[in-house]
Parts: sequence; structure tokens; C-alpha cells
Amino acid sequence: MKTLPFVLLSAVAAVSLLAHEGHPHAPAAAMKLVSPIPNSPENLANGKKLYGEKCAACHGADGRSATTTAAAAKVKPADLTSHHVTMLTPGEIYWVTTHGIPMSGMPANLNLNVRERWQLVEYTRELGKLK
Ligand code: HEC
Repeated sequence: MKTLPFVLLSAVAAVSLLAHEGHPHAPAAAMKLVSPIPNSPENLANGKKLYGEKCAACHGADGRSATTTAAAAKVKPADLTSHHVTMLTPGEIYWVTTHGIPMSGMPANLNLNVRERWQLVEYTRELGKLK
């Protein structure tokens, strides 16, 4: 039974991979979604305004999630300037902004229209560039 320890190890590795933030939250199809709006000063300005209203409480004004809400949260809000998040495609950020992340506290934003959600994506990506 030489294979059993290996099988067990693989199972443990798979479970910890799922729990890790490296696991993609958006489905593969979301990766390729393309923004229908230009990265214009107007869209970024509205994205910043919406970010202040909808995201900053958890992720902080600078995106680094050094907030009291984040400190108290069971699942830590991602650092939006981190390698993990800056490597996400705009489509993946759009997907998590739209649908949220189940069981984590990250809320859906289905009440915002498509344009507003893409403005949030543009601004979130801007935060990652400011690092
Ligand atoms: C109530 C707290 C909360 C709010 C508000 C919130 N988030 Fe999050 N966010 C989280 C948590 C928690 C995670 C990490 C979830 C995980 O790793 O399982 C997260 C993760 C993310 C990620 C990483 C997604 C990934 O695939 O790893 C992005 C991008 C993000 N949030 C963007 C936003 C944006 C944009 C907004 C505003 C529209 C927002 N969040 C509002 C809690 C929040």
C-alpha cells in the first residue's frame, strides 16, 4: 500500500488549494469578458466614487484591505494591490464584483448596472497599478 500516503497527501493538497486565495473564484468563461467601456477619466472618476461607497469599507481606500472591518473578518478581504489580484483579468474582476464570493462576505452588486460594474473594474485595476 505504498500509494495510500500519496493519495492522502494529494487529497490534503487539493483541499488546501481550494481554501487558498490562489483558487479562482470566477468561472473560466469570465476570464475573457472584455470591457465595453473606455478607460476614460470619467469612467475612472465614477469607479472611484462607487468604490468608496461599495468596496472601501472592507478593502480600504487604497485597496490594501488594512481596515477594521477586514481585521475582524473571518475570511480576509483580498489585498487589491497584491500579485494575486493584479494577475486577474478584467473579466474575472467583473465577475466577482457582479456575483460576489460565496461564504466570504464579499457581496454581489447585481443592483449596479453593467456600466457601473465595469467602472468599478477599471478603478480596482488602477489601485493595483498605484503600488
Ligand atoms: C464586506 C466586505 C467586502 C466588500 C464590501 C467587498 N469585498 Fe471584495 N473581497 C472580500 C473578501 C472577504 C474577499 C476574499 C474572498 C476569498 O478569498 O475567498 C474579497 C475578494 C475580492 C477580490 C479578489 C477576487 C479573487 O478572485 O480572488 C476582488 C477583485 C474584490 N474583492 C473586489 C471588490 C470590489 C470591486 C468591491 C466593491 C464593489 C468589493 N470587493 C467589496 C470582502 C469584501
